[in-house]
Order: sequence, then structure tokens, then C-alpha cells
Amino acid sequence: MKISIFGLGYVGVVTSAILARNNQVVGVDVNPVKVDLINKGNSPIIETDVDKLIKDGVENNNLKATTDSKEAILDSDLSVVCVGTPSNQDGSHNLNYLDKVLSEISDLIKEKDSYHLVVIRSTSPPGTTEEMIEKYFKNLNVGICFNPEFLREGSAVKDYINPPYIVIACNDDKSIELMKEFYKEVDSELLITSFKEAEILKIVSNVFHALKIVFGNEIGRFCESYGIDGRNVMDLICKDKKLNISEKYLKPGFAYGGSCLPKDLKSFLYLTKQKDVCLPLIGNISLSNEAQINAAINKIQSHNKKSVSFLGLSFKPGTDDLRESPYVRLVEHFIGKGYSVKIYDPNVSLAKLMGANKEYLEREIPHISQLLYEDMDDVMDSEILVINHNFDIKSNIQDKKYLVDLS
Ligand SMILES: NC(=O)c1ccc[n+]([C@@H]2O[C@H](COP(=O)([O-])OP(=O)(O)OC[C@H]3O[C@@H](n4cnc5c(N)ncnc54)[C@H](O)[C@@H]3O)[C@@H](O)[C@H]2O)c1
Repeated sequence: MKISIFGLGYVGVVTSAILARNNQVVGVDVNPVKVDLINKGNSPIIETDVDKLIKDGVENNNLKATTDSKEAILDSDLSVVCVGTPSNQDGSHNLNYLDKVLSEISDLIKEKDSYHLVVIRSTSPPGTTEEMIEKYFKNLNVGICFNPEFLREGSAVKDYINPPYIVIACNDDKSIELMKEFYKEVDSELLITSFKEAEILKIVSNVFHALKIVFGNEIGRFCESYGIDGRNVMDLICKDKKLNISEKYLKPGFAYGGSCLPKDLKSFLYLTKQKDVCLPLIGNISLSNEAQINAAINKIQSHNKKSVSFLGLSFKPGTDDLRESPYVRLVEHFIGKGYSVKIYDPNVSLAKLMGANKEYLEREIPHISQLLYEDMDDVMDSEILVINHNFDIKSNIQDKKYLVDLS
């Protein structure tokens, strides 16, 4: 393929060096020093394996660099955009470089008759690519692809060649086919998604990495204060791929509750206070859980109706454990606000409930017996239906119901 790469920073240089093994690559940068270095067979960045790839690419005449965008666009069928998107003062991404380079590319593409694919690799907030298409690429013979980059500096070549997956969002089928060709030497699953999802995916991945680092460090500080080896603890945590390092507990849904998580989190925070260890991330977990409950309350209230049914009451499906169930909190709230409330949960029957569960329920919702229904059909007449567990209610649903799905 004939490829132009815009922006010869970490991403652009690594991409150029690797692609030059089997393609005709021209790198473009506004910085003539970087361009000069590459044309002399030297890498402008320090990165394992890149020096040799650049040297080989230039020697084989597969790689050159220029400051001339026109030459690069006219001499390529596909452009990869890797310009920087640094932080503004307010924390937002600075999209000036991206905007400028796409405007330039759009003007140059107008001079071409053939189809041109523009692949954006610069990290940008959701909506950016669609905005740029609207602004610069409407009615042009052009494909636009957003393809987030997951490489890490220090192991960038390895990461490029062996990514967790390849994610693309494209505006036409031809771009998808070209992207398959573009990645034919990378043995990794290619996933197609929407522009906004692909854009936020990159940002969320980095947020998640930051979260993991901070969590690991907080556990480390806590353990140190108790003379425990935090690395050993985290090694054991990471060994559990069923619950700890897994998909479990990571999908958006409703707040946590139950007899274990709130209790042990509280006790953990008590222990941190005893040792005067400051753990802001873990210390704020319950605050975020409260925010989730409040968001659900706001969602239900936003319908401006006065009757609501809750399908599911226990803290999770398949149990009758009601202790610290966030759904009980919801029910309490709406009873307090004067709503007509109905509850259905096949696992929660006053006749069968015993011990701590029964006591808890009668204490939290004193008139619960009048609100609990044994048959799902009996609760379907409320104006708002709140689905707390995974009930299949499609067959029961009547018109003009407001559904709030918290499952
Ligand atoms: N560095 C990483 O590890 C990494 C990993 C994944 C994604 N990303 C993302 O990739 C993008 C690039 O990151 P980077 O670290 O390579 O950036 P960088 O700042 O190192 O390099 C950007 C380059 O773009 C050039 N440039 C600016 N405007 C230009 C224009 N109009 N035409 C041509 N060149 C232009 C600059 O001169 C610079 O050399 C960013 O959005 C970043 O968030 C970076």
C-alpha cells in the first residue's frame, strides 16, 4: 500500500517504521528536524527496535519523510493521522492540531480523482470524528476511519504488532475492506464499532489503567501499614481470573449491596483510619455507589408519575438476601415520596423469609406485606416499571409504561 503518516511523534514514528517493512511510507511532520532525521535513517524517538526498522526502511527506499503534505497526499492512497491531542488548561483535549491537519488533508484530497482513506489514530473525545467528517469530508471521494492506538511507550513495536485487538469505526464498507488489508500482517481480532464507541474506548482504557495503578498502590500502602507484603496480596488477587481479573463486576448496572461488600468495605476503611493511611480512591467508593442510587431515583422521578412497580428487591437475582439491598433503598425513597409502590420478587416472600432477612425487611419497609405481590401480572399496572433483576417482561408489558432498567 502507499501510505502517508501525519505526525511523527511516538505513534507516527513507530507506525511508519513498522509499515515500511512492507509498504511505501511517507511520514509528514511540521518539524523539519524530525523529517531530516528520518531521511538520514535515524529515529527521532528512543524506542526499542525502532532505530533498525527506520534504518532498514530508508535503505530499502520504503520510507521517507517530508514537510510537504501535498506531495504525501498525492503520492498515497491511505493517510494515517497521528498528530498530538495534548491537554488544554481545563483538561479537555486540544484538537487544534487534528483540526488543522484534517482541514489540510481535505483540501488536498479535493485535487485527487481516486478514493482516499483517512485513518485517525489521535486520541480524541467522542463525537470528534463525526464532527470532522461534517466539517471537512462531506461529499468527497473519501473513507474515514477512527482506529484507536493502544501501544505503550517502551514496548511500542511489540504492542503494535501484537495488540489486544484492533478496533475500527468507518463511514463506508470500502474503508473496512482497506483496513483489513492494512492490518493483514497483524494477527489479532478486528472489531468494528461506531465512531463514538471507538473514541471513548481509548480514553476509558487509559482511565481504567490509571484506576488499576491507583488501586494497587492504595492496597500497597494499606498493607505496608500492617506489615503485610502488598505485592503478594495483589499477586493472589490477580491469580483469581474468575472473579477478580475478569468481566465480573465490570459492566454498568446498579449499585452494589448485600451482606458482604458494604460490610467489608466499611471495616477496611475503619482499619485505614486506625493506621492513619490516606486512601482517597477506596475511601470514595461508597460515595460513588450513592451517586448510582441517586441517579436511579432521578431517572424514576423524571417521569413525573406517581405509581411505580419494582421487579426485584433482593440485592441480586437468585437470592432472598435483602440486607443492604440498594433496591430496598429505592423502595423506601418512593414510599417516602408518596408514590403508590408495588414489589415483585419471586425469591422474596414474607411467608418464607426468616431471621435477619425478615427482621431487616420489616424494619426498613414497615408495610411491606401490602406492597409485595406473588404474581408478576399484578404489578404490571403501575405507570413506571423498574426492572431490577433480569426479568423478561416483554410479553407482559402494556402500552404507555415507563421502563427504568437497572438490571
Ligand atoms: N504516545 C503514546 O504512547 C500514545 C499511545 C496511544 C495513543 N496516543 C495518541 O496518539 C496521538 C499522538 O501521540 P504522540 O505521543 O505520538 O504525539 P507527539 O506529540 O509525540 O507527536 C505529534 C507530532 O505531530 C506533529 N504535528 C502536529 N501538527 C502537525 C501537522 N499539521 N502535520 C504534520 N505533523 C503535525 C508534531 O510536530 C509532532 O511531531 C495523541 O492523540 C496521543 O494521545 C499516544
